[in-house]
Amino acid sequence: MSRPHTVTLRFLAEPGHVNFGGKVHGGAVMKWIDQAGYTCAAGWTGEYCVTVYVGGIRFLQPILVGELVEVNAQVVRTGRTSLDVTIDIYAGNPRTSTMRRACHCVMVFVAVDAEGQPKEVPTWTPTTPVEQALEKYALRLSEVRRSLDQEIEGQLRWLDQQRPAETERR
Ligand SMILES: CC(C)(COP(=O)(O)OP(=O)(O)OC[C@H]1O[C@@H](n2cnc3c(N)ncnc32)[C@H](O)[C@@H]1OP(=O)(O)O)[C@@H](O)C(=O)NCCC(=O)NCCS
Repeated sequence: MSRPHTVTLRFLAEPGHVNFGGKVHGGAVMKWIDQAGYTCAAGWTGEYCVTVYVGGIRFLQPILVGELVEVNAQVVRTGRTSLDVTIDIYAGNPRTSTMRRACHCVMVFVAVDAEGQPKEVPTWTPTTPVEQALEKYALRLSEVRRSLDQEIEGQLRWLDQQRPAETERR
């Protein structure tokens, strides 16, 4: 069965998306990222997926109300139960065909069963040079992430211990 490994959402940036500076709110952009990423992960796996990581998010250019927004999500790497999805957002005047890249990020999803336990995902095999480069990029990111997570874990544990225990707080 052939599964879609890419998803594109297209819509207009609406007045309700605006921030105090008159541009599209970063929170609205993050919601679009989440929606496109989930749709892509669910389409590829055929399963319910949860987000375990969002990173490398770059707001490259502001998006204006009334602009056409295109959110492209694509599977770039699969593990046993997880998959990495890159998101690229383009924006531009709907009267012209020119779009500029406004945002980029990487998300990691895990497919889960009815009990919320990780479930195996279908393997994504990159074929084009761009797909292969994106898989390599995702792998490098996961290595860096793991090493940074290990580096900071001790400090995070220390911060956890400074908080009152669940029972004490009630
Ligand atoms: C998803 C969840 C069930 C996984 O549980 P877990 O005990 O971490 O499971 P595992 O250790 O077996 O890891 C499962 C996969 O997640 C990956 N993973 C876990 N944490 C990760 C992180 N921070 N970054 C990247 N990948 C991660 C593991 O590498 C593994 O991938 P693989 O099977 O492809 O090798 C659990 O972390 C969870 O419920 N998280 C909360 C999800 C959530 O609420 N999201 C927000 C709303 S959607």
